[in-house]
Amino acid sequence: MKRIGVLTGGGDCPGLNAVIRAIVKSATVKYNYEVVGIEDGFDGLILPDKTRSLTPWNIRGILPIGGTILGTTNRANPFEYKATKNGRSEVRDVSREVIKNIHSLGLDALIVIGGDGSLNIAYELFKMGCPVVGVPKTIDNDILATDVTFGFNTAVQTATDALDRLHTTAESHHRIMVVEVMGRYVGWIALQTGIGGGADVILIPEIPFDIEKVCHKIIDRKNSGNRSSIVVVAEGAKPMGGDVSVLCSAEEGGSAERLGGIGNKVGANLKSTGMEVRVTVLGHLQRGGSPCAFDRILSTRFGVAAVDLITGKQLGEMVCLRGQRIESVPLSEVAKGQKSVPTKDGMVKAAESIGISFGR
Ligand code: F6P
Repeated sequence: MKRIGVLTGGGDCPGLNAVIRAIVKSATVKYNYEVVGIEDGFDGLILPDKTRSLTPWNIRGILPIGGTILGTTNRANPFEYKATKNGRSEVRDVSREVIKNIHSLGLDALIVIGGDGSLNIAYELFKMGCPVVGVPKTIDNDILATDVTFGFNTAVQTATDALDRLHTTAESHHRIMVVEVMGRYVGWIALQTGIGGGADVILIPEIPFDIEKVCHKIIDRKNSGNRSSIVVVAEGAKPMGGDVSVLCSAEEGGSAERLGGIGNKVGANLKSTGMEVRVTVLGHLQRGGSPCAFDRILSTRFGVAAVDLITGKQLGEMVCLRGQRIESVPLSEVAKGQKSVPTKDGMVKAAESIGISFGR
């Protein structure tokens, strides 16, 4: 009988529980494996007493629940682990302890459900001999080698619903509504929300924008009788020749620099159009709540496929979606960077064809 561990790392995302449920069900029912849940990401393999047995019985009812029953953190990187010793904070490489703990827990394999940060850690551990497989998670949809990550479609739906609501109040008051959405390095959420929610301007990290062009677009609309406009801005968008807007540094933010504030900056600049402007920052609303049906199904397929990778001895790989098929890729492929929005074709081109401006 095999014993497999599962952890969720990085920011949470709708569909994590659906993946955990699928892993537990397929591992126990199909293969008669034992499943150990590891709490709070890699912290659960560093700190004591952070594991528990997962069975079909104790994971009942979690399919539609947002977040993760295992807890998560984006602070626990075993290769740069921050701890306090004798009142002093220090950064240590605890990766060997993690591998030792995986052995002492009797795990034959570890499933890491995470974004690029956690999957990179998984790949480094794999290179040290750790039997891991990965499942790609993030609302940002920026992971290479998979067409889409679970959680992304739910986030887009949440943000699109918000745009629908903002349209009616924008129209009543003849205002510009600026909506800041998540997306650190890539603009997938902004792009698809903008198209799905009928935005007039979409600003994404991949296309540095010219604020003059954005103002012109809105003035043109005003002159042709449109008395309101909707502008969607990804948190990682930046003006031409300028920088991203940083809320706080990595030290203050916990693990990574926190972005935010570009919505307000764009809003302030748009006052030159002579129209009233209001700014909405959707923030973590996009990460919370129940996964949509697409994400529940994708999560379930990913969870089942991750267990199949273990039985097929395809360690060091990540499950992925290619077209309609669930496949797998080596983690080395995933560690190569981020999946950006193509700016010359595809959806950006379609959006421009219907008059949406990207400020270029
Ligand atoms: O990576 C997903 C994401 O939602 C980003 O879009 C965002 O920048 C980040 O996480 C925020 O993370 P947190 O506030 O949890 O540190």
